[in-house]
Amino acid sequence: MPTPQPWFPDTHPCWLPAARGRHLAAARVEVDGGGPAGATVLDEVASLRAELGLGEPAADAPRWLFTTAGAPDGLRPGGFAVHHDGADRVVRAPDGAGLLHGFYRALVVPDVLDGTVEDPAVDLRMLDSWDNMTADGVMGSVERGYAGDSVLFRDGRVVEDLTRVRGFLRLMASVGLNAWALNNVNVHDAERGLVDEHLPDVARVADLARSFGVRVWLSVDFSSPISLGGLDVADPLDERVAAFWRETADRLYRAVPDLGGFLVKADSEGRPGPHAYGRDHADGANVLARALAPHSGTVLWRCFVYDHRQDWRDRSTDRARAAHDHFVPLDGRFDDNVVLQVKNGPMDFQVREPVSPLLGALRETTTAVEFQVTQEYTGQQQHVCYLAPQWSEVLRFDFGEGTSEPRTVADCARGGVVAVSNVGDSWCWTGHPLAQANLFAFGRLAWDPRLDPDALLGEWSRATFGDDEELLAGVHDVVAGSWRTYEDLTAPLGVGWMVSPHHHYGPDVEGYEYTAWGTYHFADRDGVGVDRTVATGTGYAGQYPPAHAARYEDLATCPEELLLFFHHVGYGHRLSTGETLVQRIYDTHFAGVEDVRRRAARWEEVADRVDERTAQEVRTRLAEQVRSAQEWCDRITTYFHRASGAPDAHGRRIF
Ligand code: GCU
Repeated sequence: MPTPQPWFPDTHPCWLPAARGRHLAAARVEVDGGGPAGATVLDEVASLRAELGLGEPAADAPRWLFTTAGAPDGLRPGGFAVHHDGADRVVRAPDGAGLLHGFYRALVVPDVLDGTVEDPAVDLRMLDSWDNMTADGVMGSVERGYAGDSVLFRDGRVVEDLTRVRGFLRLMASVGLNAWALNNVNVHDAERGLVDEHLPDVARVADLARSFGVRVWLSVDFSSPISLGGLDVADPLDERVAAFWRETADRLYRAVPDLGGFLVKADSEGRPGPHAYGRDHADGANVLARALAPHSGTVLWRCFVYDHRQDWRDRSTDRARAAHDHFVPLDGRFDDNVVLQVKNGPMDFQVREPVSPLLGALRETTTAVEFQVTQEYTGQQQHVCYLAPQWSEVLRFDFGEGTSEPRTVADCARGGVVAVSNVGDSWCWTGHPLAQANLFAFGRLAWDPRLDPDALLGEWSRATFGDDEELLAGVHDVVAGSWRTYEDLTAPLGVGWMVSPHHHYGPDVEGYEYTAWGTYHFADRDGVGVDRTVATGTGYAGQYPPAHAARYEDLATCPEELLLFFHHVGYGHRLSTGETLVQRIYDTHFAGVEDVRRRAARWEEVADRVDERTAQEVRTRLAEQVRSAQEWCDRITTYFHRASGAPDAHGRRIF
């Protein structure tokens, strides 16, 4: 018997308002096959009916059949096909997840067309929650979380009532996501116990996740053989350490037979790792991989590895080079069930970075790309910043350009498309109601990297706000292009890192300039930017295949949005549009403030067309965005005015 559950109780339903599923709730829904995820289709229908106050459907109501019989050949796991049969609809899929994906697709797009076939491009479509089990410390209970506390953990354990977790899994499954890392990559004392004393709770979460077609992963601490196993080392080549990991994996898989595996941050920002024992990342990843292999689990090993104790006086070390320098020599040494998880850029989720060259360089190793949906460096869910255009650019970036072999990031990242979640226990899930668009679009792009970000924005807003065309036009104007606006307002032309240290919100031009983090812009009275050329700089540009390397190397051909990432450039340098570099910095910042004001005003034109709470939550944040934009503009223009002495051609106010 299907179990009706409240439909998003006390929370915003995001892009899944129950009313949009009326056609499904009113239909005779039958499910044939698909295991726990298939059964969830019936539960969801029961929940929709309860929410909408509908009884059993009439005997002559249209029929929706969800079946694993007769799925088209070659459909990948999770994929589905829709067939119209008069007023009846048939959704065919190879598995329960596919049935569920078809169901949610029909909720988001109620008039889903006859002949629709949707097939995920990649098997692993993952959200990493950076959730901590306790709320101690500066990071709160979600590291870099801007939407409240964890929906999963409270007071050092997994929550008893999984209602919010169910809602989260519904959101994930509705956009085709199928993998979830439960806990922060920075594993503290409390979370170590997830493989141990909290395992029954992990199993409880995994059971629920399974019913949404989602597998769970655990972030593990590389030094667990010491902290949990009572050993005096965590050396990956020590047989006792290998045995510890085997026993741990065996225990985990007895509780969670379909556990995805481990996510690991090692030798990164002070986390323990194999280097302490003179071993390398391949040794470290492989000892875990061998423990997981008998259970078909995988290790997601992160490549966010660099020297975070750099001396700022040291001009020979370039953090941007680090991941490539560390991992390319190890290509081919990783076991088959290791996936290297590489951030989209070489630094750290800045608003603009080049694509990480490591993504194109690993020929013998399975690779996944990691994005950040949580807006750590992009306005922290106070600013509207629709990031799908950034992710789309990255996924389409072609390492094979200039050769006969196209190799986009989407082609290279066969191991998966992963992102850090932006979800917390806030009423609307994402802190800023309009940040829901990022979660939606990430899932859809992970499913199909060819999708157009602007079309996804339209799809999201229609599902969320309904068919009020004036409202939709307004939402579009507020959200579309907001990534570029954030870029205009912050560190110029790709150089990054003019943000307040530690919390990463708001401007502090020299906040990172003399720190140990390897994050410098080298602004002086003559110019700004980092020389990363092969000829005279750090050589980073040479980490790309020849066509890209040549383009970045040359000031004349380097894309302007990355100019200061690759070159140290004089303030008087003329850009393609004729103005000087410093004038461009002034212009983009003044324009950015105007743009944010326009967005805030535009919201007021349509705010009375949405529910009051959403109207108000967005209004409050847009007001903060205007304030913050002005602060960015004033600080950046003033800094460069003082540094360069160059007047603004338009005589605007600089302090
Ligand atoms: C950034 C972020 C950290 C996080 C790290 C990571 O540096 O500020 O909070 O731990 O990325 O991705 O591991």
